[in-house]
Amino acid sequence: MNYISTNLKLNNKTFKLKINKKDILSKNQKYSLAEKFGSSKLKSLDWYGDGYAIVDVFNKKEHDKNILKISTELIKMLKIDKKKNFKVQKYHEMVSDNEHTKLIKKTREIDPKIFNQIKDKIYKVINKKYNLKFERNLKLKKEICILRLNRPGKQDMNPPHRDGYIKSWSKCVNIWYMTSGCRKTSSLPLVPKSHLLTENKILVTKPKSKMNGIKYHVPIIFKILKKKNIPFLIPKIKPGQVLIFSPYLIHGFGYNFGLNTRSAIELRPKIKE
Ligand SMILES: [Fe+2]
Repeated sequence: MNYISTNLKLNNKTFKLKINKKDILSKNQKYSLAEKFGSSKLKSLDWYGDGYAIVDVFNKKEHDKNILKISTELIKMLKIDKKKNFKVQKYHEMVSDNEHTKLIKKTREIDPKIFNQIKDKIYKVINKKYNLKFERNLKLKKEICILRLNRPGKQDMNPPHRDGYIKSWSKCVNIWYMTSGCRKTSSLPLVPKSHLLTENKILVTKPKSKMNGIKYHVPIIFKILKKKNIPFLIPKIKPGQVLIFSPYLIHGFGYNFGLNTRSAIELRPKIKE
């Protein structure tokens, strides 16, 4: 058999994950990458042990305005007739699979200037609350912002992963701001404390490997050794709140169990040490 499979449980639904055996990397480092390569500033924060925190950023009025801004940008990108009363929540009803595949190529590298107001407010609140400063990431040609769109019941999600495996993100903090979708069942699954797992406790693939026939740029975390399941938690995030987490925290597999399209803005500012 060339393939190995495992089960992943989320909201009582079991998913089967299948990868090619030859894609597994043999890792025997007895240290955690977050401890070795992560931002030293993050280590001093009160939430570092859990690896994530939820921060109040926008009030209701601001949050609604942000949703409107996202809808406006999508109308432009999709060239939708403005009279059509487009709402980001109902995005999945208005696009074909083909249109979605084309669109996410654009939305995963948005010029952050488009969402400057949203970004500035998030950064300001986080900078103040945690006494952090952000600086330009010299490992990147340009700063990016991602608008994630996950349609209900579709395989639009990333595999379980850590952004920190990609070197340019090692000293960053992940920011995830959900602007539509079901908050109870379908925010971003994550594994608390998993940034501290040593590499020899994880089965991970090479970059650009396939899971269930789909190729992913980021290495896939296939299994945590000695655990039957990857112990994902779906954090409850209220409208206007923002999820922040270590780039080494295991997250992803954000299957959308709801009826609306989930949209979220992702930012990864580099922390000034
Ligand atoms: Fe990620």
